Amino acid sequence: MTVSALILLYTKTNIMSYLDIKSEKISPIIEELNILLADYHVYYQNLRGFHWNVLGKNFFDLHEKFEELYTDARIKVDEIAERILTLRHHPESQFSSYLKIASVTEVSSMISDQEMVNHILNNHEIILKQLSKVVKKAEAAGDEGTIDMIGAYIGNLEKVSWMLNAWSKDTDSQLVGK
Ligand SMILES: [Fe+2]
Repeated sequence: MTVSALILLYTKTNIMSYLDIKSEKISPIIEELNILLADYHVYYQNLRGFHWNVLGKNFFDLHEKFEELYTDARIKVDEIAERILTLRHHPESQFSSYLKIASVTEVSSMISDQEMVNHILNNHEIILKQLSKVVKKAEAAGDEGTIDMIGAYIGNLEKVSWMLNAWSKDTDSQLVGK
């Protein structure tokens, strides 16, 4: 074996040995994770705009809630990007790419507080669909690390959505499903 072949073998075994997933099965997961990363970035920026521009009697509640949500989104952006790196790929890192591939769209923050909450609920719906796509691709590859991480995101986002939905209701609508 030549020296260069030995170096190649050494590099391959050392870099790839911790992943027990076939490389061809990783690419579809990466594709969906990059879309999720883009979705979270646009969602994050929507929340920042809402945090800055919210007005009215609900200002103190919503200003703080939007900050809590964008702080959570910022953490998830980093975790998603680092999951992609853990799977030995590079995350998308340019906003121009995010805007091309994201399903979540930019929203003007010159709207009412109720419209802001409606937009956030809509963004959550889109992100939840994308999270499901990631899980399906990860299941097909036996990628337990991604399934575990994304599973927690789903439960968390569903819970926050329930709370925002409850906030949107009148106090006389007593049925949760209404
Ligand atoms: Fe602030």
